[in-house]
Amino acid sequence: MTRIAVLCSGGGSNLQALLDAIDAGRVNGQVRLVLANRSGAFALQRARDRGISAVFVSRKEAGGEAAFNARMLALLRQAEIDLVVLAGYLPMVGPDIVSVYRHRILNIHPALIPAFCGQGMYGHHVHQAALDYGVKLSGATVHFVDEQADHGPIVAQRAVPVLPGDDTQSLAARVLAVEHQLLPESVALFCAGKLRVDGRRVVVVE
Ligand code: GRF
Repeated sequence: MTRIAVLCSGGGSNLQALLDAIDAGRVNGQVRLVLANRSGAFALQRARDRGISAVFVSRKEAGGEAAFNARMLALLRQAEIDLVVLAGYLPMVGPDIVSVYRHRILNIHPALIPAFCGQGMYGHHVHQAALDYGVKLSGATVHFVDEQADHGPIVAQRAVPVLPGDDTQSLAARVLAVEHQLLPESVALFCAGKLRVDGRRVVVVE
């Protein structure tokens, strides 16, 4: 069974969607560790409520970028993690971790990459940029994490309409609902060994 760590910064609704999918038997994996870079992140409480190891680790708490990533890597190795899932996690993952977990770190982004992504594109900033641009479709993307923000090979995407009268809240809610489907589906494919990376392309094999 795939041993999963989930990294969060906020409320953890994507974490919850993954945990619910595991309980429903749709994902052959086990969340063994939840890390958050904010001590008050409700995602930590969601983990504790289920008896899952929940650890606050941040750049400041660890004493700098290098120590932060070293501590993160040590925690992942100690838990013998196979797959790292970034679920509403804001900091960049250090290159050492990306290298050790090449094609074993998944991220969910609330837009159709390569649109509205990269540094500074998180939360409502993403949806505001989509509304400002006047796109008719937005959506969610799950991708493998590499050394650049929101840049690695794309695993799955799902579109939602941008409707007249949308504001960032209504668009965010519509996208979030799709995130809660797409992330567990993508993790399930990984756990089933069905994802093959060919350059920038990800192929789902049966
Ligand atoms: C949301 O903006 C979501 O679109 C993005 O991260 C933020 C918080 O998600 N993936 P969560 O509720 O903490 O999973």
